[in-house]
Amino acid sequence: MCGIVGYVGRADGVIGGNGTGHQALDVVLEGLRRLEYRGYDSAGVAVVTAGRIESRKKSGKLTNLLAELSENPLPDALTGIGHTRWATHGGPTDSNAHPHLADGGRLALIHNGIIENFAELKTELVSAGHTFISDTDTEVAAALLGNIYRSLSEEGDLDVALPRAMQLACQRLEGAFTLLAVHADQPGVVVAARRNSPLVVGLGDGENFLGSDVSGFIDYTRRAVELGQDQIVTITPDTVDITDFHGAPAEGKEYHVDWDAAAAKKDGYPSFMEKEIHDQPDAVAQTLLGRSDLEGRLTLDEIRIDPEELKEVNKIIVLACGTSAYAGQVAKYAIEHWCRIPTEVELSHEFRYRDPIVDANTLIVSLSQSGETMDTLMAVRYAREQGAKTVAICNTNGSTIPRESDAVLYTHAGPEIAVASTKAFLAQITAAYLLGLYLAQLRGNKFQGEIKDILADLAKTPDKIQQILDNSGQIKDLARSMSESRSVLFLGRHVGFPVAMEGALKLKELAYIHAEGFAAGELKHGPIALIEEGQPVFVVVPSPRGRNSLHAKVVSNIQEVRARGAKTIVIAEEGDEAVRAYAEHVFYIPETPPLLAPLLATVPLQIFACELATAKGYDVDQPRNLAKSVTVE
Ligand code: AGP
Repeated sequence: MCGIVGYVGRADGVIGGNGTGHQALDVVLEGLRRLEYRGYDSAGVAVVTAGRIESRKKSGKLTNLLAELSENPLPDALTGIGHTRWATHGGPTDSNAHPHLADGGRLALIHNGIIENFAELKTELVSAGHTFISDTDTEVAAALLGNIYRSLSEEGDLDVALPRAMQLACQRLEGAFTLLAVHADQPGVVVAARRNSPLVVGLGDGENFLGSDVSGFIDYTRRAVELGQDQIVTITPDTVDITDFHGAPAEGKEYHVDWDAAAAKKDGYPSFMEKEIHDQPDAVAQTLLGRSDLEGRLTLDEIRIDPEELKEVNKIIVLACGTSAYAGQVAKYAIEHWCRIPTEVELSHEFRYRDPIVDANTLIVSLSQSGETMDTLMAVRYAREQGAKTVAICNTNGSTIPRESDAVLYTHAGPEIAVASTKAFLAQITAAYLLGLYLAQLRGNKFQGEIKDILADLAKTPDKIQQILDNSGQIKDLARSMSESRSVLFLGRHVGFPVAMEGALKLKELAYIHAEGFAAGELKHGPIALIEEGQPVFVVVPSPRGRNSLHAKVVSNIQEVRARGAKTIVIAEEGDEAVRAYAEHVFYIPETPPLLAPLLATVPLQIFACELATAKGYDVDQPRNLAKSVTVE
């Protein structure tokens, strides 16, 4: 959740050919702006210059920090760190904001994550005479690091004191942390550490960068280095040294960031949310691209798991949270239908506490846009300890969950900046379909021709999504007319059920309206008591085509709620006239095979939620209380 940026530059660094390094503050503030999407409630920076640390920090948005900096400017510097904080220990106040200082104000530390043993460390430090000014676990880590640094620097070589102190401090810390530290004694050096929390290095020419993700430095370089678990990195303008927590040298894997700063811009849309809803045809198309040949054979060479082991898989468990979990629920129907493998979808944060049955024949499929969701990461780790093979379906290159999985199938939705997920959701479903078809191909559950036909249908969905986007005026009008709604229900059946759940979540997240998704068949078992005059009810109706369609049953559900006064809003397939008699509003989606319908039916619900929230004047990119990546359990 927190945004982290670090920078070291050289005065004569070859930056853009102008021969001068960047001001650390400029780089850090630009990086924090790009990381705002992670959600935060305070921000701060620190620079190292002329043998001292200078720091400014404020609660609230970056604009508050910028105002502080204009009133109390920082001196020029080529070394700096910056942080946007999403409060965990201690409220969003100026004093709890990062950086936190130690060693008499000569060391500054920023942190993302939770130090789980901070209380015992704080007791130890207080009894040693340390006084704290904040309620945070981070200040405890800073004090620990500062004390260790002070004793090392008095013993010997200053040059290695900061990295060494970080190693020793990390050996004492438990929990999840990305730490960045600078010291007044060490201009031109930033030392960082990571455990269970994201951190990437950006490689420059005469300058180097650190970020929670590549957005922190994408304006300056696209050369990035992944850091592994329990690693420490020391950057100077010309060097990047990586060790483990005990000082043993370690290697980072360099990769090229394949999207640029422009991709993360709004492209003229009023919000990232609207841009990303309109990115969806491309997100699906890009996720399909290059993963099958002309004969319709899946070519998923990134699934580096022995095919013979995949043939032995007798259970699939999908691990995810939130919207990603709904993508998993959609995929379950297709994977079980195509592969005939029992498939469970588990909320990551529940999974490992229910003593699940997992063994070497279980295939774990994690779904995560960010690849940093702690609940999902910990669940994947647990499953691996039980011997399962793990595949990550993820949208963020080089993030932690793919790095800790046996294989990864990246979605290619491009950076998803808005906190509420949209294009990643459709891309996750698409990637999960590809994985299901790949397993069906490998295990012989489907003839090659059948797979080819399904891939052909999938390849048509981007255009069908575009049709919906091009005809969204009616759903937007309805949304604006319903801006005063207090509660909205969503019904769906089969693959329409998780679509209903996702539609409800979008409305909750964006418009702060109570919304609930139900399995349509469940209505008569209780929820129908909620229906009263004027109660808005969305119903996602399956195609009337196909021998065992649930269409008639769902139409009956519409009748049931309509008869009790509900305002029925129906998402139905083009040509479905049967719903008209019972629907106050009908929004048609193009015809498509039933299992692929979620890629279409979800879009009107996303547009509805975004438009209604906009009508209420809400920030659809950074809704209240939410973070883009929940990196704490
Ligand atoms: C999506 O709209 C929500 N912001 C949230 O439920 C999200 O899907 C969930 O936190 C999982 O995130 P991930 O996909 O990055 O793991």
